Amino acid sequence: MNKNYLIDTHSHINMIENISLDEIIKNAEQNNVKKIIIPASSASDIDIVYELSQKYENIYCYLGIHPEEAKDWSDLIANKIKIYAKSNKVAGIGEIGLDYYWDKSNIELQKEVFIQQIQLANELNLPMNVHDREAHKDTFDILKEYNKSSKVIMHCFSGSAEFANECIREGFYIALGGVVTFKNAKKMKEVAINIPLERLLLETDAPYLTPVPYRGKENQPAYIKYTAEEIAKLREISIDELTQITTSNAEEILSI
Ligand code: NI
Repeated sequence: MNKNYLIDTHSHINMIENISLDEIIKNAEQNNVKKIIIPASSASDIDIVYELSQKYENIYCYLGIHPEEAKDWSDLIANKIKIYAKSNKVAGIGEIGLDYYWDKSNIELQKEVFIQQIQLANELNLPMNVHDREAHKDTFDILKEYNKSSKVIMHCFSGSAEFANECIREGFYIALGGVVTFKNAKKMKEVAINIPLERLLLETDAPYLTPVPYRGKENQPAYIKYTAEEIAKLREISIDELTQITTSNAEEILSI
């Protein structure tokens, strides 16, 4: 088993504005990123990311409704996801979850839509890519209560080392992105050092959260190497070892 390539497990390449899709993919390939998974956020995203996954060999997708777009959720969307999920390019349900940072006025709707999408993931036997922003306790409690059988990836993990441990004990996986490269991101560096390697995944969340040295610019999958380098350095292991483990984790969890 020699998986010496990287996987970007959460990348909104359909939202990158300053470079073309072909260039994004070429840059990724040149930087050893072999697979990219694009999450859907809104209802209209679902067709877009699905079509991209069908068009490009190394692109996969998650289908679902982001908590900020909870009002988009409907039976129609659920049925569309069920049909699309027959494709093996659909790696999971996402990004789903709770976001109390932007909008607290629709918390009850967010919870309801999150629960329905957890049940959909269970029904389809697919993993979940979970967005949790300033909603750690509710996200965790809902997953604990409603998730019966799906693997859970906490995307762009932003909690403490203690919360990471709680998630690990519950069997969840933790995906880290560019924030870990920020000089003042002490909490995230602590998480990166402490979580078991067999639970770790890498992502960019492009076009957001660009790692150092490109912080402030638009993010893209090729930059995932800076996050990998930082985590390998923090854990005092080789970049090759980190790459192989995180890539095997992603391929196993997502069946890609
Ligand atoms: Ni995202």
